[in-house]
Amino acid sequence: MISPIVIGVTGASAQILAERSIDLLLQANYSVNLILSKGAYEVWTSENNIHIPLDSLKQEKFWRERLENSNGKLTCHKWNENSASIASGSYKTKGMVILPCSMGTLGRIASGSSINLLERCADVHLKEGRPLIISPRESPFNLIHLRNMTTLCESGAKIVPCIPAWYSHPSDIKEMIDFMVVRLFDSLNLDLKEINRWKS
Ligand SMILES: Cc1cc2nc3c(=O)[nH]c(=O)nc-3n(C[C@H](O)[C@H](O)[C@H](O)COP(=O)(O)O)c2cc1C
Repeated sequence: MISPIVIGVTGASAQILAERSIDLLLQANYSVNLILSKGAYEVWTSENNIHIPLDSLKQEKFWRERLENSNGKLTCHKWNENSASIASGSYKTKGMVILPCSMGTLGRIASGSSINLLERCADVHLKEGRPLIISPRESPFNLIHLRNMTTLCESGAKIVPCIPAWYSHPSDIKEMIDFMVVRLFDSLNLDLKEINRWKS
């Protein structure tokens, strides 16, 4: 099995993209280290009307049952679990994806002032020169957001917003979501699922 992939989920809209990512990664037998920020729990509840358990083991069970997926390896971490293995550069990973990324988390990573495990992990990926993929979610962006994204890009992160493609002719929202998620993980060179890629 290849090194684990860290997934950070923050308090921005479109939590469904994070859920689908976890499902596809596990289906493909990857090992996933998952961290939800405190804000993510709030947005998740408002978008899905369900509370995600805070306890790591209960949360793992929650995802397994919700996704009906027993493949791969899933390890959930609480946002303040600062002594977790993934907080250290000595713990090897394939990379980290933050999806969706709020402007708050994005700003704190850009300023190097991490206040939770998710932001610390992002900091570690940058300092270790490992892939850090950030999928920002806000509209419109103000100048501070844009400058923070530039700083992150200059520091080695990749900014990959989830934007639907019409050339793939999605027949429903599920297909649109899968297209965006698969394209996002192209950045880590993972082949999660067949999608209608552009053909001339
Ligand atoms: C329903 C809901 C949707 C939100 N959507 C966004 C969003 O799309 N982008 C964003 O930057 N903040 C959004 N916010 C605000 C963040 O959740 C808030 O700034 C939070 O403090 C971010 O914390 P975090 O970065 O630690 O996850 C939303 C808040 C709520 C309650």
